[in-house]
Amino acid sequence: MRKKLVAGNWKMYGNLVENEQLLSAVIAGLNGLRDAQVAVCVPYPYLPSVQNKLQHTHISWGAQNVSQYEKGAYTGEISASMLNDFGCHYVIVGHSERRTLFGEDNRTVAEKYLAVQRAGITPILCVGETLAQREAGTTEQIIEEQLAAVIDLAGIETLSKAVIAYEPVWAIGTGKTASPQQAQDVHAFIRKKVAVQDIDIAKELTILYGGSVKAGNASELFAMSDIDGGLIGGASLVANDFITICRAVHN
Ligand code: 13P
Repeated sequence: MRKKLVAGNWKMYGNLVENEQLLSAVIAGLNGLRDAQVAVCVPYPYLPSVQNKLQHTHISWGAQNVSQYEKGAYTGEISASMLNDFGCHYVIVGHSERRTLFGEDNRTVAEKYLAVQRAGITPILCVGETLAQREAGTTEQIIEEQLAAVIDLAGIETLSKAVIAYEPVWAIGTGKTASPQQAQDVHAFIRKKVAVQDIDIAKELTILYGGSVKAGNASELFAMSDIDGGLIGGASLVANDFITICRAVHN
């Protein structure tokens, strides 16, 4: 059975006090959901306090970015092994905000993915097309290129210890969600592309949908056969909404 996961991506929000309140509410709200796979990916400086708060719960934690380098004179960068020191289970790589706002190309994303793998952490690899690309009919080509860069560098077998998140750029933070069928079509395409190289890995691969997932639309998205959960931005900052979304994946 494929692992289902709901991961919150806090982006650059929060502070010590707010994080504490949010996590207390989420822990309480998810109590009893023992086999739920739930994670939060938080800003770097909060990793120690989040680790401390979550370490005896069923909620995992992780980071939103990482350096592709192991160590060295890279001012301001954070390596995967440093993230290991704080017990990170997941690292998001290739989020579209990193790709568009910080110039990360497919090659850099693949290097970051590999760095995370080598540290024994599970990468959450984001792929997705812009509105212009969708309208030009190149969605599948874009996704295929994003995937191929990673598979070529790291090897297909690494996908057995990775999560993919399909996040159409036009749906992120816009309130516009891909319809369940639109999302399902791309998820099925991703699984098919992986299956060509390794059918067993494809069957077990957790593929999340991200982009304006809310308490009100999570169930219909998660009901689709190739959607194994969500990567949640804005709604992961609102305890009750995040709890509802986490429960939706396990219904
Ligand atoms: P929103 O849920 O705010 O649209 O963000 C999605 C996202 O970027 C998750 O990584």
